[in-house]
Amino acid sequence: PKTAAGGPLVGALVQGTDYSNFMVFNSKTSEVLSHHRVELTQEVPKEGWIEQDPKQILQSVNECIEKTCEKLQELNIDISNIKAIGVSNQRETTVVWDKLTGEPLYNAVMWLDVRTQSTVETLSKKIPGNNNFVKSKTGLPLSTYFSAVKLRWILDNVRKAQKAVEEGRALFGTVDSWLIWSLTGGVDGGIHCTDVTNASRTMLFNIHSLEWDKELCDFFEIPMDILPNIWSSSEIYGRVKTGTLEGVPISGCLGDQSAALVGQMCFQEGQAKNTYGTGCFLLCNTGHKCVFSECGLLTTVAYKLGKNKPVFYALEGSVAIGGAVIHWLRDNLGIIKTSEESEKLAKEVGTSYGCYFIPAFSGLYAPYWEPTARGIICGLTQFTNKSHIAFAALEAICFQTREILDAMNRDCGIPLSHLQVDGEMTNNKVLMQLQADILHIPVIKASMPETMALGAAMAAGAAEGVNVWSLKPEDLSTIMMERFEPQIKATESEIRYSTWKKAVMKSMGWVT
Ligand code: G3P
Repeated sequence: PKTAAGGPLVGALVQGTDYSNFMVFNSKTSEVLSHHRVELTQEVPKEGWIEQDPKQILQSVNECIEKTCEKLQELNIDISNIKAIGVSNQRETTVVWDKLTGEPLYNAVMWLDVRTQSTVETLSKKIPGNNNFVKSKTGLPLSTYFSAVKLRWILDNVRKAQKAVEEGRALFGTVDSWLIWSLTGGVDGGIHCTDVTNASRTMLFNIHSLEWDKELCDFFEIPMDILPNIWSSSEIYGRVKTGTLEGVPISGCLGDQSAALVGQMCFQEGQAKNTYGTGCFLLCNTGHKCVFSECGLLTTVAYKLGKNKPVFYALEGSVAIGGAVIHWLRDNLGIIKTSEESEKLAKEVGTSYGCYFIPAFSGLYAPYWEPTARGIICGLTQFTNKSHIAFAALEAICFQTREILDAMNRDCGIPLSHLQVDGEMTNNKVLMQLQADILHIPVIKASMPETMALGAAMAAGAAEGVNVWSLKPEDLSTIMMERFEPQIKATESEIRYSTWKKAVMKSMGWVT
């Protein structure tokens, strides 16, 4: 067996909302040598409840690792050259498990789940002192999106979890913690940890001190002994305990949106990227400063690439429903058979014919943070057909990104001159052209849409004690590829955008 092109290899585990994937990179060339991906489904036991089975997530991850190793061996590549593994995960999704049995005590409550709306309302009335109590410490608005309220719900409603807490057997974690604990041995000495980027999405983490915040834990009534230890995004957390990669260090961990920011080499203040996944997440690096938004954006930890390295922060615009709107057309309406078909239909008509689609399935996130909003499709006529609706769905992703970009420009003062984009949906050329038209700035697409895998691999490979990857911003030129220029007049995009905003107003106030 050989090493591909002589370089050490680094694995990246991407655990997203819809799939798990394991990719192996050559650390010298950033080339992907092999990967294996497993699709995941979500359970919707009640309206607004969205769950996943943590064991199924773990199983999918193990399958991805083993299958990728088999593929590498078939390519005659020596897997003993895999020197480190990085993790990039869906954020906020909440898992509670029993440290003695390794069994989850409830399904993972997913980031999109809105069952905690009444908990949020009750807590908002209890905010001590000023309204800024949660935001000033965490950078986040009090919302169903973040882990603290999901954890509160589990502790209030699941008897098994309550009992495990009382008996000192319960552990809490976001998906990264659950995976790292399981992969490093689980009941047999698993490491219970998270990184600063994932911790910053729990609403229990103080983004200034970079520690769990006692006052927040008291406010949400969360016992601190169930929380994981907080580490940087790049250091050796532990080693894989079983399977083909036994002994390999896990040395990188970033929430997926932070991983994409690193993968796109946005290391300078003012650099930003937008990722088109289940949702859409635009992050702008604000350097060592916590910038607080006046326009509905979040302040979050971007990354901290080493125990003794400085922390970087980001302003984030989060859109709950991005690619998920296309899945909805496929799975709920059945008007397309595959996601790719949306591109074909939209291309055929080239217009929504005045139809606007607000996919506020879980309320609206940034910049509105409006839990009372629900999805609407409006502007329909006798002439409207499924192709116009597909076009409107793609356009909705672009308009939502425009709202975030406008907020980002207002907060930062300096408008972005172009937008770096990544994520699976960037393969949809109609979407990319629409995005450039609606933003009226060039959109630059990464050649490798899985930049989150690259970011996790870079963090893992650069960790102290691994040192097989050097983080070089100049590598950017090797990953940025296609450029989409605006092709319509600015006045036309303004007219369409203002109609979109009118439609957004109509989507609000559906839930009381
Ligand atoms: O905050 C949620 C986000 O991390 C999920 O990302 O790629 O699964 O849409 P994705």
